[in-house]
Amino acid sequence: MAPPAARRADFLMALAYATDLATGQSRDFALRSCVLAMRLAEVAGLDDHQRRNVYHQALLRYIGCNADTHLLASAFGDEIALRQDLARIDMGDQSQIAETIVRAITRVFADAPPAELAKAVEQGLAEAMNVSVPILAGHCEVAQRIAERIGLSGEIRQNLGQLYERWDGRGLPRGLQGDAVSLPVRLVTLAQDAIVLSEAHGFETMTAMIAKRRGGAYEPALADLFLAHAGRLLAGLDGAVDRATILALEPAPQAVFDERACEEAYLAIADMVDMRMPFTFGHSRAVAALADAAGRHMGLPASDIRELRWAAYTHDIGELAVPVSTWMKTSALTLRETDAARLHPYHGERTLAGLSGEGKAVAALVSRHHEHLDGSGYYRNARGPDLSPAARILAAAEAFQTAREARPHREALSAADAAAQLRAAVREGKLCPDAVEAVLACAGQPARRAHAERLAGLTPREIEVLRLIAAGHTAKGAARQLEIAPKTADNHIQSLYSKIGVTTRAAAALYALERGLVQQGISAA
Ligand SMILES: [Fe+2]
Ligand SMILES: [Fe+2]
Repeated sequence: MAPPAARRADFLMALAYATDLATGQSRDFALRSCVLAMRLAEVAGLDDHQRRNVYHQALLRYIGCNADTHLLASAFGDEIALRQDLARIDMGDQSQIAETIVRAITRVFADAPPAELAKAVEQGLAEAMNVSVPILAGHCEVAQRIAERIGLSGEIRQNLGQLYERWDGRGLPRGLQGDAVSLPVRLVTLAQDAIVLSEAHGFETMTAMIAKRRGGAYEPALADLFLAHAGRLLAGLDGAVDRATILALEPAPQAVFDERACEEAYLAIADMVDMRMPFTFGHSRAVAALADAAGRHMGLPASDIRELRWAAYTHDIGELAVPVSTWMKTSALTLRETDAARLHPYHGERTLAGLSGEGKAVAALVSRHHEHLDGSGYYRNARGPDLSPAARILAAAEAFQTAREARPHREALSAADAAAQLRAAVREGKLCPDAVEAVLACAGQPARRAHAERLAGLTPREIEVLRLIAAGHTAKGAARQLEIAPKTADNHIQSLYSKIGVTTRAAAALYALERGLVQQGISAA
């Protein structure tokens, strides 16, 4: 069964949440900036077409900012803290930029002798522009490419390429000036700065700073309009923004994704996440290919395989909350860094939480991709019955693929050594033996044991029927859900009862529960 169509705006909100994490912005920053920018667009009398551009610019302005993050981290350390600082300053003011860079380098060399710090600062300041310009240009191009992959118009893509340009021509990378910077870009830059400055300094100081930057970062007429209505425009924008508000703000026609567009959107997220560091490049695609193959090998229903693949594409999206400088460390992480790193499945779940339909199942899988059957995984410490076959496959595929890739603190393992590591995790009670053997078979590793009875040999259709009757559906109800004849559903029930060795619905339900086959959201009500 194909999944129901999903609103594109749901994906835009997930991307916005992710970029807020990566840039160290406050919760729902991009959503709040979208509301503010749309209000300002209204006051400025923009037509629907321009309002559409404003809407997308506000939600997606920073989607390209993960490109080459390792270069930024190598030069300036914690790039999330750096981005947070940069968002608050006037980027047309060289002394403010220099001050911010010195602060970043001081963080990196906090424990170094003064002479070493002084040398690093001198070098950092000399190289700042050489390092930054190609990185920022890359952000623009990557944002444009991601936008293209999620079906956004050429004009929206063009605007995303101007995210760092300014009214006075002192922006990057092209130094566009005045009207050459498109109106939606000018408007969103002002709106986002207003929120950042208001949070950092309070309303009064924010308006004074916007007035000071009038004619510099901002178009004078737009700054005047904003300042004349600032109180009303910012009203109620100091808390979380609900999903419905953003959906309602999307100018007509509202974009909808079919299954193919969803596939491409999840894949675009995979690439966006993986391109932060050279050693994760292609990681999520590889995990997805392996998980997809293992799901088929284990005979999972088509919808499970689809959700598994989409979860694999997005499984590490929560890593954006952790500075690349942490992932790049060659020494052991501190306890605090370990805690932060182990929370990435939580952040991933939160990022995808707003998705509708199958997105809910995807988010649930993402939150479990480092869980173990014995409760020793993270972040939930979930145990066997809470881990569906898809979750078990995802954990095994992720573990295998990661072992095969080099990381700054270790070499890549050979396929044979990675297989041995996974089998050791099975012996320790951490990974599911069936999921591991399915993953290893799909990775071309010789089988260690026969697996004729995966999930008791249930067919994908029998698994679907089992789930429905476990959730309280009658044979008739299950037939209706699956759009099959009641007699056919009854045959499936008899067959699956005999395969799993039960004679009652209650025992079948318990079997499903014990093996993580009961899905949230399925109920007979
Ligand atoms: Fe991963
Ligand atoms: Fe992960």
